[in-house]
Amino acid sequence: MYRVAILTISDRGARSEREDRSGPALAEAIAGLPGAEVVARAVVPDERAEIEAALRRWVAEGLDLILTTGGTGFSPRDVTPEATRAVIDREAPGLAEAMRAASLRVTPHAMLSRAVAGMASCTLIVNLPGSPKAACENLHTILPALPHGLDKLRGDPAECATP
Ligand code: MTE
Repeated sequence: MYRVAILTISDRGARSEREDRSGPALAEAIAGLPGAEVVARAVVPDERAEIEAALRRWVAEGLDLILTTGGTGFSPRDVTPEATRAVIDREAPGLAEAMRAASLRVTPHAMLSRAVAGMASCTLIVNLPGSPKAACENLHTILPALPHGLDKLRGDPAECATP
């Protein structure tokens, strides 16, 4: 079983001015990962401290996978990659490279994604874009590699340092 959390990062979503459609879309799409169970969901504004706090909380709970959606582009308030980098201790660049490569076949705007993926203790954190369609397209790209990656990451639980 993989315990999954989904973090939607959106100023307007956090103010309830816009319905969160990416979080629910990802919660449905993660069914493509056998054994995945969404155990937590949250919406936070594009504030680095709030993003980091949510990530750190779920890492401390020992979740297997955190998917973020939104805040990876060029707008001045897009700080999801910076918040993620502050929390992870190892990067997993292949996941972000694969997502950008696959997305470039869909849109040249894929090269505007600054998404980061990496591990904090035994939790894998993956940034996804903000639109529901783009988030699910990116998730589908990495799904085939996730079971092996998550199983390796889990490894020996004694090796999972408490953050
Ligand atoms: N990837 C896919 N597969 N499909 C898309 O439509 N949109 C891109 C990119 N990745 C897109 C995509 C766009 S327009 C941007 S700005 C970046 O993701 C960052 O998105 P974000 O700022 O919503 O996080």
